[in-house]
Amino acid sequence: MNDYMIKMQETVDYIRGKVNDIPKIAIILGSGLGSLADDIEERITLSYKEIPNFPISTVAGHKGELIFGKVDDVPIIAMNGRFHYYEGYDLKETTYPIRIFKLLGVETLILTNAAGGINETFKKGDLMIINDQLSFFAESALRGPNMNEFGDRFIDMSTTYDKDYIEILKDIMLNLTGDYKEGVYAYMKGPTYETPAEIRALRTMGADAVGMSTVPEAVVAHHSGLKVAGITCITNMAAGVTNEKLSHEEVKETASKAEVNFKKVIHEFIKKIG
Ligand code: HPA
Repeated sequence: MNDYMIKMQETVDYIRGKVNDIPKIAIILGSGLGSLADDIEERITLSYKEIPNFPISTVAGHKGELIFGKVDDVPIIAMNGRFHYYEGYDLKETTYPIRIFKLLGVETLILTNAAGGINETFKKGDLMIINDQLSFFAESALRGPNMNEFGDRFIDMSTTYDKDYIEILKDIMLNLTGDYKEGVYAYMKGPTYETPAEIRALRTMGADAVGMSTVPEAVVAHHSGLKVAGITCITNMAAGVTNEKLSHEEVKETASKAEVNFKKVIHEFIKKIG
């Protein structure tokens, strides 16, 4: 076993020592969805700080806890606070929890995030089902010796986001609001928001939304054979789409306004797939 596998095994052993029944579904709570954590019943909370070898989140407003419990009677693991490349982690650290989930026996990963809207038919507060992703300007989370324990060296990316999950999410959103949005999530490393020129370039390349997370996690999850669902909250229109200046305050404000709706969708989704 290499050092990384030994470290991961230590993490897994610690978690197994604290939690008897490991859920099959894990969800990463993005900006604005943190309060879903309050809906988790029969919970066991592990702070990242206490879990051996787990990275620690540095972003204000991100909690840094792994919560095991039930939502609508369905067992889940929620990751409240994720690791971003822009914080200074390398991509192995950023995606560390995903491989831990896989080793724990998780089968489904739900990724949520906040992003800027590039598609001009979107508006602030919309939820977008991620149906594909773009990542030209960042290294792959799989760079380096392949971890054969998890998956092959070269992997097909034509169905990174599970097709059945996309259909289920469409139905849920149609039922809730009479409409749904879906599209391509483009990954930028941050921490700057993009320039208007970058947004025009991303639009030309086929992006509908842009954010600074999710893609490394989705790549590692897909490599490991996890089924992936992704939902984005459009917290602002991307740079240059309107005359408004971008700010983290705006992102947080819209995310918190959209939270009720976001939580409804997640509840319905978990009930459906659980
Ligand atoms: N760009 C990148 N990341 C983001 C944005 C954005 O406009 N909004 C929220 N996260």
